[in-house]
Amino acid sequence: AGKKGTSSERTFIMIKPDGVTRGLVGDIISRFEKRGYKLVAIKSLVPSRQLAEQHYADLSTRPFFKGLVNYITSGKAPVVAMVWEGKDVIRQGRIMIGATNPLDAAPGTIRNTYSISIGRNIIHGSDSFDTAEQEIGLWFGKPGELASWEPANWNWIM
Ligand code: PPS
Repeated sequence: AGKKGTSSERTFIMIKPDGVTRGLVGDIISRFEKRGYKLVAIKSLVPSRQLAEQHYADLSTRPFFKGLVNYITSGKAPVVAMVWEGKDVIRQGRIMIGATNPLDAAPGTIRNTYSISIGRNIIHGSDSFDTAEQEIGLWFGKPGELASWEPANWNWIM
């Protein structure tokens, strides 16, 4: 996940199928972009069961696991998987997303703004540096899938 605590820190963000269906892709990308984060990978796909189960492996014993995997893989809409880069992006991404249960999410966060259901909470973000490394590797593991880049004068702005 880039280098922890530097401007090359990276996180994995996934817009879930409900977020895609509801037309929130543009708004969510815009929030990260306008904040100053850099998009270094993006793809839209219907994940296989295997990919979804691996992504949520830590939750395999939880009662909602099957429902969560069904929801992510249903194909009613794809997910949009992304890697965002920048200072403190793992922690800031979680703050911008808001609490897991949208009913507990702070006003202005993505989940508070768009959802009232924990089982349809729009978006996922890595919760730690180690998780970010794992998730980025899982979703964007092929060589060349991550492209870092520097806009002109970036250092002056950031
Ligand atoms: S924990 O205990 O902190 O690991 O769990 P938590 O952070 O609450 O949730 C982990 C992920 O499970 C999703 N989740 C659910 N999905 C569907 N239905 C229910 N009831 C439910 N409860 C939790 C939650 O959104 C987290 O997924 P991501 O994709 O990371 O948001």
